[in-house]
Amino acid sequence: MLDETKLREKILRLKQKRHAIILAHNYQPGEVQDIADIVGDSLELSRAAASLDCEVIVFCGVDFMAETAAILSPQKHVLLPAPDACCPMAEMITPGELTLLRERYPDAAVVCYVNTTAEVKAGSDICCTSSNAVNVVNSLDEQRVIFVPDRNLARYVARFTDKEILPWDGYCIVHEQFTPDHVREAKQHYPNAEVIVHPECRPEVIDLADHVASTSGIIRYICSSDKPEFIIGTEVGILHRIKKECPEKQCYPLSDTAICRNMKKTDLTKVYAALLHNSPRITVPETIAIKARAAIDRMLAI
Ligand code: 13P
Ligand code: SF4
Repeated sequence: MLDETKLREKILRLKQKRHAIILAHNYQPGEVQDIADIVGDSLELSRAAASLDCEVIVFCGVDFMAETAAILSPQKHVLLPAPDACCPMAEMITPGELTLLRERYPDAAVVCYVNTTAEVKAGSDICCTSSNAVNVVNSLDEQRVIFVPDRNLARYVARFTDKEILPWDGYCIVHEQFTPDHVREAKQHYPNAEVIVHPECRPEVIDLADHVASTSGIIRYICSSDKPEFIIGTEVGILHRIKKECPEKQCYPLSDTAICRNMKKTDLTKVYAALLHNSPRITVPETIAIKARAAIDRMLAI
């Protein structure tokens, strides 16, 4: 087994040779974030995938993120080093269920969270991420909006629009774990800390938070704040970037068991193997990709 320094060197050499770019989500293990060219939230990584000048994208995240990159850049080779890294929330609605919803509410627009399969994106009018969901919904002409699959993000958006939001009943198994008791206990321990949570949290947790933002939004908020202490209600991988970018801040996880197992399936060995073998490659059939791309492009244009 290679030691970490040698592995990093080999990855960097191979990356150059293959004209590859490594993208990593904010929840990735620290060693993976440290080797990445860009670390970000879903929206930032989608924008990067659409605009980067490279032949290969190594996507360190979960499957729907790599699929989105492949939809936006079909000419690029998109690699997902851990091919079994999935997002359980994305599996909570099927294309057939979405078709039934459309039949039941023919006057409604369909907004899909980026945490969906390519087929569900293809059946939607517009995509959104946690950082632009409110703007996306408010950009629509329709008064009724079917929002899939995250019921918590849907309810969060409903606070900032006069449109009627029809949420699907999906949720993130990691953010669903946070309860109001977690927030109350953390506030007792750290009475001067601000509470910042991700909009995938339950409404009763969001009610107790001082600020709500996407993963990169949380990092930006903390780094630009003049406050010294924060309680963070999202997956613990985010702490790595915060420690690097604003080491003077004290940040406490709302729960240290908030770990997305799928996000932790990528490691340096798998990144190296993916670059070496140019595999596992993620592709999306063209008939689905064309429709899914329309929903993603409409979001990116906002
Ligand atoms: P962000 O777009 O905020 O990074 O969220 C992605 C995600 O999967 C959160 O659980
Ligand atoms: Fe999916 Fe939740 Fe993991 Fe994000 S944290 S990838 S929503 S399971």
